[in-house]
Amino acid sequence: MKIDILTLFPGMLEGFLKESIIKRAIEKGHVQIELHNIRDYSKDPHKKVDDYGFGGGKGMVLMPQPIFDAVESLRTEDSFVILMTPQGKTYNQKMAYDLTKKKHIIIICGHYEGFDERIRTLADLEVSIGDYILTGGELASLVITDSIVRLLDGVIQEESHIQDSFHDHLLDYPVYTKPVDFRGLKVPDVLLSGHHKNIDLWRKEQQLKRTRERRPDLLEKR
Ligand code: ADE
Repeated sequence: MKIDILTLFPGMLEGFLKESIIKRAIEKGHVQIELHNIRDYSKDPHKKVDDYGFGGGKGMVLMPQPIFDAVESLRTEDSFVILMTPQGKTYNQKMAYDLTKKKHIIIICGHYEGFDERIRTLADLEVSIGDYILTGGELASLVITDSIVRLLDGVIQEESHIQDSFHDHLLDYPVYTKPVDFRGLKVPDVLLSGHHKNIDLWRKEQQLKRTRERRPDLLEKR
């Protein structure tokens, strides 16, 4: 898979690509991720990328030209273009799974004060990561990149994501490590029993209990 991210602030994203699982996924060739500075595509002599909005009102608006040129220079038949915006479809694990099937994803990071409405025509999907406003789409683009890359074949052990919260609309079960007794808080006996059938049963019960208590809305979706 290839992911191209269009942003005005590539520096905000660089560190993320150099750490942990994402770094390894890139090194092992599971994914290729490139950052593109929207400003580099500006045809303005001063590399301007935004201007005042027609009709007055709030702040500067990202102009269509640099974004259209960037997308048009990167897009192929296999590309799927995502626009990060709080007005998009609220992101979830099912969308992450669906996006793992794409060969090439282009992510456009929106601008904190707004972008020209015509930019929307480039997008196959508009995505929001939740009902709150960020200063721009950069963090949101990392959220979706991270959630997709960890699901790609070979990036992490498959059973890890089968156990994920939200897989099957259930939250994950509790896990414990050493010591068996930490300040009087004990690991449940069943996990020490070595009885795999009982352990599986306990885990399923815990998933249902947790989901019922914390996210009853998920059970309705099941
Ligand atoms: N840009 C600003 N806020 C955002 C959000 N919640 N989701 C996606 N993009 C955004």
